Amino acid sequence: MSPERRVLTGITTSGTPHLGNYVGAIRPAIAASRLAEVESYYFLADYHALVKCQEPARVQQSTREIAASWLACGLDPESVYFYRQSDIPEIPELTWLLTCVTAKGLLNRAHAYKAASDLNRESGEDTDAGISAGLYMYPVLMAADILLFNAHQVPVGRDQIQHIEMARDIGQRFNHLFGAGRELFTLPEAAIEDNVSTLPGLDGRKMSKSYDNTIPLWLPAPALRKAILGIKTNSQAPGEPKDPEGSHLFSIYQAFASPDETQAMRRAYAEGIAWGEAKERLFERIERELAPMRARYQAWIDDPARLEQVLLAGAEKARARARPFIAQLRSAVGLRRLDQGVAARAPTGATEPGEAAASVKQFRESDGAFRFRIEFGGRQSLVGGPYASGKEAGQLLASLYDTALEIRATGEESGHRLELLVGASPVARTEPYAGAGEAEADLGKFRAAWKALLQQRDEARLAKAAKA
Ligand code: TRP
Repeated sequence: MSPERRVLTGITTSGTPHLGNYVGAIRPAIAASRLAEVESYYFLADYHALVKCQEPARVQQSTREIAASWLACGLDPESVYFYRQSDIPEIPELTWLLTCVTAKGLLNRAHAYKAASDLNRESGEDTDAGISAGLYMYPVLMAADILLFNAHQVPVGRDQIQHIEMARDIGQRFNHLFGAGRELFTLPEAAIEDNVSTLPGLDGRKMSKSYDNTIPLWLPAPALRKAILGIKTNSQAPGEPKDPEGSHLFSIYQAFASPDETQAMRRAYAEGIAWGEAKERLFERIERELAPMRARYQAWIDDPARLEQVLLAGAEKARARARPFIAQLRSAVGLRRLDQGVAARAPTGATEPGEAAASVKQFRESDGAFRFRIEFGGRQSLVGGPYASGKEAGQLLASLYDTALEIRATGEESGHRLELLVGASPVARTEPYAGAGEAEADLGKFRAAWKALLQQRDEARLAKAAKA
């Protein structure tokens, strides 16, 4: 995958876009998608919609509205990845691979599931009453969305942070089990934009479908005006100076206005603008921004075949990325062609088929000191120690398997040796080589043999877990 930053976010298709979605998600995401150094992935999370919505017509209508909204607001499907989740079969496929490495306990701790089951318990219901396995699995599906495209950053609201952390945990575990020392998945980070993320709704609380205080994004102008006139204000009379801080009306205005316009409105508040007049100005400002987009929105809504085409083309583009990656992942977990041979490794593993694994042995010298030796098929072997006890030597050895080991060839002065480092401290070294070339050759041998050893250990552990 390309080295630039990949930014990915999903929009659940279970509702009608409102002004809060526009200010908090659509507008900033489209602005970000125009930055040259990011690669953007925006998708319609319709599989996720099924978790909360069992009205087929509504899922379809919402998908249509949200797709049309993003395009009308200026998303360029040519320069980003814009697709519908359910057009990417690699997503549910990856979901299963991830499901098998996800601890059930992790899902038990997910906020949405926990809130639902807590509520059941408090009301004396059966713990899992009315909770679908879909709700329970929601975080795994979301991890698949993110990990399939190796996203670096995921712009989401605060309520979604835990899901991103779970995607990291799941990805990390998969890397550990199947990566053979390489990162199969990029571990994603949540990107929270605090300054733009919330717009007050009609009642002053955050504009949100769950508070029933939203203003739909694409109301016709007269209905938009009427909705804005309905925003709650206090009872200050016309002519009374008003405080912009704490005025929801002002916050909404600010979300649409330039700094100069905001400054002018601040003055108008100080001069006692009537609420009715402030609402008219707010309507005019919003209308100025939305009117041209509303026309484009209507054009998209009126041409669902074209909308469908854009989404299918987007899915093809995304699958060109997803297909080879899922093939790599399938092989990594062992879903492989049978004629690949038993010893064949995942293409991700750096070890070649049949690569000899390093071997580690502890021994005790005649002087009583404890040491260990790592044989890796080179001209020399690495020797660590001395340690005062076998237990100490054993502990150091155990730590080797779980740390990022470093190996380096020392310079001429110390006689071209290889040195194994944990953190910055050398823990084992070879005898001197005849020259730098020999040391370099053994360096490569050690790396391959160590990787093979780690892979063997992981496979043994999995086999043990599978038996248990
Ligand atoms: N769960 C997200 C929400 O409700 C939507 C979503 C689904 C998503 N998959 C995602 C967001 C992947 C970011 C990345 O808002």
